[in-house]
Amino acid sequence: MTAREARERIEKLKKEIGHHRYLYHVLDRQEISDAALDSLKNELVKLERQFPELITHDSPSQRVGGAPLAMFTKVPHAVPMLSLEDAFSEEEMAEWEARMRKVHPRGDFEYFTELKIDGFAISLEYENGVLRRASTRGDGMVGEDVTENIKTIEAIPLSLSDFIFTAKNGKNRLTIEKNGKIMKILKERIITGNIEIRGEVYMTKKVFEGINREREMKGEPLYANPRNTAAGSIRQLDPKVAASRKLDFLAYTLVTDCGQTTHHEEHEIVRALGFKTDVFARECGELKDVFAFYEDIAKRRESLPYQIDGVVVSVNNNETFRRLGVVGKAPRGAVAFKFPAEEATTVVKDIVVQVGRTGALTPVAHVRPVPIGGTIVSHASLHNEDEIKRLDVRIGDTVIVKRAGDVIPKVVGVIKNLRTGKEKIFSLPKKCPVCGEAIVRPEGEVIARCVNKQCPAKNKEALYHFVAKPAFNIVGLGPKILDALSDVGLVSDPADIFSLEQGDLLPLERFAERSAEKLTVAIEKAKTITLAKFLYALGIIHVCEETARDLAEYFTTKGSVTSPADLLRIASEETPESLQEIPQIGEKVAQSIHAYFSDGYAKRLLQKLTEADIILHSPKPKKRAVPLVGMSFVLTGELTHLTRDEAKVLIREGGGTVQGSVSKKTGFVVAGAHPGSKYDTAKKLGVAILNEQEFLKLAGKQKHG
Ligand code: IVH
Repeated sequence: MTAREARERIEKLKKEIGHHRYLYHVLDRQEISDAALDSLKNELVKLERQFPELITHDSPSQRVGGAPLAMFTKVPHAVPMLSLEDAFSEEEMAEWEARMRKVHPRGDFEYFTELKIDGFAISLEYENGVLRRASTRGDGMVGEDVTENIKTIEAIPLSLSDFIFTAKNGKNRLTIEKNGKIMKILKERIITGNIEIRGEVYMTKKVFEGINREREMKGEPLYANPRNTAAGSIRQLDPKVAASRKLDFLAYTLVTDCGQTTHHEEHEIVRALGFKTDVFARECGELKDVFAFYEDIAKRRESLPYQIDGVVVSVNNNETFRRLGVVGKAPRGAVAFKFPAEEATTVVKDIVVQVGRTGALTPVAHVRPVPIGGTIVSHASLHNEDEIKRLDVRIGDTVIVKRAGDVIPKVVGVIKNLRTGKEKIFSLPKKCPVCGEAIVRPEGEVIARCVNKQCPAKNKEALYHFVAKPAFNIVGLGPKILDALSDVGLVSDPADIFSLEQGDLLPLERFAERSAEKLTVAIEKAKTITLAKFLYALGIIHVCEETARDLAEYFTTKGSVTSPADLLRIASEETPESLQEIPQIGEKVAQSIHAYFSDGYAKRLLQKLTEADIILHSPKPKKRAVPLVGMSFVLTGELTHLTRDEAKVLIREGGGTVQGSVSKKTGFVVAGAHPGSKYDTAKKLGVAILNEQEFLKLAGKQKHG
C-alpha cells in the first residue's frame, strides 16, 4: 500500500470508527458488533504502525491505555482454577453429553445452567469467616494476590461471621431451606468459616459507560469494554483506583466441601453466606431444557445489566461431575455454551468461483488474512449468486466476516461507507471457470452447476471422493497424489486408478519403490468393495452413505449384483417412481439416482470399472436362503400375520419382486381377506393365487396353527 492509499484508508477508517463510537456511546445504538468495530480499530492501529507519520491526536488508536505492571505476590491455587470448553451449537452440546456418557455411563446427567458473565475470575479465601486473600486466576495454578483491590468491591462480604454466628447460636448448624422445608444441613466446615469461593468480578454496562463518559469529558482515553476495564481495575497497584471503579461480583463455585451434593446447592450455600449469585441460574433436567434456557437468555442478552458471552452448563450432580474428571485445563462435566458469531472486518481481494464435485458453483471471497476466534481466516464463503446480490459484495469492499464454531467463515455484511469507488461488481461466469462449458441454473434453484461430466474440476473432486474412507478407502492415495496423477494425464476418471502400475507412480515426486508398491497393493485390494460403498463412491447427487446402503439393499433384492455392469443393468430398469418405494428415498433423491444411471457418462464409467475387475459384494440379507428368486408378487387384501410393508420386505429379502398390478407375467397374487379387483384379474389371466399361509410357506416363514 502506498502512503497515499494509506492516508485515504486511515481517514475513512477514523471517520467510520468515529461514527460507530458516536452511535454506541451517545445514541446508545449499535449498527455493527463490538467485534467488527474492534476489527476496524485493529486495522487502523496496524496501518498507523506502518505509517507512524500519519498518526493524529484525534485518532481512535490514541485512546488505548498502557498495561498495568505485574507486581503482585504470586498465589498458588490449592484447587486449580480451570477454564471451560466452548460449544457453539446444539449438536456440539449433544456431542458433549455423548462424550460424558461414554466416560461415565452410569452418571447422573441433569444440568445446572447459569449465565457466563464476561468478567474476570477471582478466588476468595475466608479464614474463620474473614476474607484473608483474593487472587486472580493467573495460569490456573498460580494467580496474583489482589486482596486489597478486591476488598473495595461491596458485593464481596469481608466477613461471613454473621452467618456463622447464626449457625453457632442457633442449633449449631446452617441449613438450606426451600419453601420453609429444611433441604440441607451443612457440614462442620462451614461453621469454622474456612471457606473458598470463586466467582466473577465484573463491571455493569452502566458503570462502564459512566466511566467512559467521564473520561471523555476529561479528555482521557476511553476503555474498550467492561471486562478489560474490570480486569484492569483489579490489577491496579493503587486500591483507590479500584475503589472508584464500582465493580461487582457474582459467586458461582463453592470450592470447599460444605456438604453440597449438587451445583445448585453450591449456589444456595454461597447465597446463604451473603454472596450474590445469578438470578437466572436454574436446574435443567435434560439438554432440551438447556437449549430453552439458552434461547431465553439469548433474547434477554442485550437488556441485561452486564455483558455475557454465553451460558455455563454444568452437570448438576457433584459426584458425577467429579468422576468425569478434567480434560486438559477444563472439567469434562461443564461447558461454555457460547453465543455464536465471532466477527471481524477485512477486505475482499478477489471473488473466485469453485467448482465442486457435483458441479455446484460456489463463489468464495479471498480476503486479506484476518484472525477470527483463534485462527487466521483468508477465505469466506459467499454461498451463491443470490447471496452476493443480497449483500452487494464487491471486490475491494471492506466486509464483515463471521466465523461461528467450526463452520466455514462467511461474509455477513459490507461496510459500504468505506468504499472508494474503485470496487468491482462481481457476477457469476456464464461458463464453467474450469472447463469452459455452459453453466446451468435450473429455475427456482439457487445453485448453478457445471453440467459437463468431463469437467476436470468436477472429476478431481470426484476422485478425492471416490478414494475416501467411506468409499473405496484407498490408503495412501490422497488429494496431492491424485492431483499429480491427473496433471500428468494418468488419471482422468476413477476407473483409471485401477490401471495404475508401479512404474506410473515412481516418476512422481514422493514415490520410492516401497511406497509405490504399497499403493498398488492397496489399489488391488480395493477392487473388492461392498455395493453400498461403491454406490456412495460414485458421488451421485443427494446420495449419502445412508442412502447408498438403502439403495444397495434394494438393488440386491432385484437380482445378484457382483459387478458394476450388473448394477447398471438393474439400476437402468428403475424409474423415479419405483425408486421411491425404498423407504427414506423421496422424489428429489429418486430423480437424481435415475438421472445418474440414465446418463451416458455413468454408463461408460460403470463399463470401464467392470473391465477394471471391480467386484461388488453385498452380504445377503441375514444369510438366509433366497426362496423367492425370480418370482414376482402382487399383494391384495388384508394379511393377518404381516403388514403390507412387512410382506414387501419379506419378498425382497427372499429375492423376489413386488409389482403394483397384475399382468400375464405376474408370478403370484397373494390374496388376504377382502381382496380387491387384482384377485379377479389374476383369476381371469390364470395367475397363481396364494393365501397368506401358502405365501408364508413359500417364503420360508411358515406359521404354525
Ligand atoms: S464456572 C471450571 N461459571 O468463564 C471453570 N465460569 O471460560 C469454572 N465465567 O474462568 C468456571 N461466568 O472467568 C463459571 N457462571 C460462570 C461463569 C464463569 C463467567 C468465566 C470464568 C471462567 C471462564 C471459563
